[in-house]
Amino acid sequence: MKTLDEVQLTGKRVFLRVDYNVPLDKQHQVTDDLRIRATLPSIRKIIDTGGKIILASHLGRPKGKVVGDCSLRPVGEYLSKLLGQPVLMASDCIGDAVCKQVSEMKSGEVLLLENLRFHSGEEKDDPEFSRQLGELADVYVNDAFAVSHRAHASVHGIIHYVKVCAAGYQLEKEITFFRKAMEDPKRPLAMVIGGAKISTKIDLLENLIPRVDLMVIGGAMANTFLKAQGKGVGKSLVEDDHLQTAASLLEKATQRGVKVLLPVDAVVSPSLEDTADVQEVSVDKVPPNTQILDVGSKTIELFEANLKNCPTIVWNGPLGAFEYPPFHKGTFALAEFLGNLKALTVVGGGDSAAAVKQAGVADKVSYVSTGGGAFLELLEGKTLPGIVALEECSMRS
Ligand code: 3PG
Repeated sequence: MKTLDEVQLTGKRVFLRVDYNVPLDKQHQVTDDLRIRATLPSIRKIIDTGGKIILASHLGRPKGKVVGDCSLRPVGEYLSKLLGQPVLMASDCIGDAVCKQVSEMKSGEVLLLENLRFHSGEEKDDPEFSRQLGELADVYVNDAFAVSHRAHASVHGIIHYVKVCAAGYQLEKEITFFRKAMEDPKRPLAMVIGGAKISTKIDLLENLIPRVDLMVIGGAMANTFLKAQGKGVGKSLVEDDHLQTAASLLEKATQRGVKVLLPVDAVVSPSLEDTADVQEVSVDKVPPNTQILDVGSKTIELFEANLKNCPTIVWNGPLGAFEYPPFHKGTFALAEFLGNLKALTVVGGGDSAAAVKQAGVADKVSYVSTGGGAFLELLEGKTLPGIVALEECSMRS
């Protein structure tokens, strides 16, 4: 892939695909700016070299209709404050008015197009929509790792309608860290996997077993593994139709010599809401009327004792119901532990990224990916359509 440093930007109209699909509160204020900040290096580079920046993103899932709550306007206002310069807003992302606005831009100016998903052509990867986006620009830059797993017009089809393509700094950084951790790691390589459901992580587990040395499993998905081992897990979330999957994954890991760590104790309660009767129990003694909602302190000790010997650690998925105190402790303890290690620590997935932020260690781990689904697909061993498109276009130009 060509990088931003390898293309001529001065005086050029640069279509910068970003992923500003960020959470907004009821007053439409940005509540997590990781994805916006992540694009600042590319934006500054283009401004400094005298390019004209046409920012394009989706927000939410408006499904081809104009939905007020999905307007990118509040994001434009937020970005303007971060950049310290005006961000012009377009009322659409294609059409005559937008073409006119772009043609009047001066070098160093920034224009944010309105939500790409207000047009159904975006998600359909429609050639005509791709062409209309492409005609706005001289150079196409993808700095939207988090949506690069979608074969949508602005990340995929557009490359047929632009002459020059490049990867933005953020996209480059995502790939560099991922490769360092997963393709050429210092060993032992550990993967910490959490989250609610094993069914959403089967491909990931299958792909990782031959690659990692240590697999640490937490979150509600661990319950299915525990039950597959014959343990009683009370009223906990379990995927009974995946007990066999869990058993066979454990078997595969053993055959490959991968060490697998499951929780040895758990924080249990009758329900998420009922915090009056929270107890810590061994996983062999989960009371039948309770649910496992977090890992216990012995589990944290066990996980940390093993992880501290690993120079490379990748983490995806929380260890417990961390949004609901007091069930945040296991996830936060892990976040803090990773933040204080000298290892290469790569964190990916919306919940894990939120957890390291809330635990105050987002700047202390080596890298926090901006990707949710995209990060997961890389872990599953899939190629991302946005990255393949960029490679194709780079080879051509
Ligand atoms: C994300 O938030 O993971 C990306 O922006 C992709 O969004 P989508 O799942 O709505 O395609």
